Amino acid sequence: MNQIEPHGLQPEITKHSGVGLVTIAGLSVVFGDAKSQTIALQTTDLTLEPGTFTAVIGPSGCGKSTLLNAVAGFTAPTSGSIHVDGREVSTPHPSVGVIFQNFALFPWFTARGNVEFALKRFGLSRKERRERAMAALAEVGLEEHSRKFPGQLSGGMKQRVAIARTLAADPDVLLMDEPFGALDAQTRLRMHELLTDIWMRRRKTVLFVTHDVDEALRLADTIEVMATSPGRIIQTVSVSLKRPRPVDRMSEDFLELRGQLLSLLRNED
Ligand SMILES: Nc1ncnc2c1ncn2[C@@H]1O[C@H](COP(=O)(O)OP(=O)(O)OP(=O)(O)O)[C@@H](O)[C@H]1O
Ligand SMILES: [Mg+2]
Repeated sequence: MNQIEPHGLQPEITKHSGVGLVTIAGLSVVFGDAKSQTIALQTTDLTLEPGTFTAVIGPSGCGKSTLLNAVAGFTAPTSGSIHVDGREVSTPHPSVGVIFQNFALFPWFTARGNVEFALKRFGLSRKERRERAMAALAEVGLEEHSRKFPGQLSGGMKQRVAIARTLAADPDVLLMDEPFGALDAQTRLRMHELLTDIWMRRRKTVLFVTHDVDEALRLADTIEVMATSPGRIIQTVSVSLKRPRPVDRMSEDFLELRGQLLSLLRNED
């Protein structure tokens, strides 16, 4: 019997666990003093349902990182509030994992050491930490490289260690700020496949910031398009393309959405 899958997603996709609800209400972030103010983010309302994948795109300086940093608890709202599963965000919290472009690995720890170090705050035994770190490294295909130091790993591998480190802590929400921006095109495509695969299995709520329309279209269910001065969301675009989404077979729908997004961004530039 044929069943229609919600959002056109594939049947093997895991059902989300019901946690990871992000509620952003009346959020604004203003930097500077009375003389010179930047409205990095104008009053914004946004809900990320548990297990959804949302991309945020927009020109440089439109407030993408500001939005992500506020959800992470790194930047305090000037007004409004952010809740994750009912908990108000005021400082960073283990239920929200963050991945940046520049990996932020400790060079003096091995790949496994970096992941283990991030698990220290969970009160696990040494053995449990090791097992969890190895499982996370296996999940990103780095089992064989667990004893290497960051200096011995490629850019893509380093970012996989950073992803493993975040996954090992098992957050409910994953925030990613241009995580693949520094990687070459080929590696980036492989990382998209890996992230799609992880998301389909784990169903974390993901907020993914990028400059790249194609990257957003490959990964997300929903794309929030932002504009600058003041930073704000100008459009929400639903992406109901089936996953995985291969780049060598871009469908008509993909191309139509891409045209729509590029023209939105062009008008804002
Ligand atoms: N700590 C800060 N102090 C003062 N102004 C800031 C601060 N952080 C960001 N801004 C300003 O807020 C605005 C939004 O910055 P933000 O970094 O969020 O943009 P972005 O969309 O992430 O840009 P990019 O695509 O270049 O990363 C910019 O005008 C920026 O200069
Ligand atoms: Mg940014």
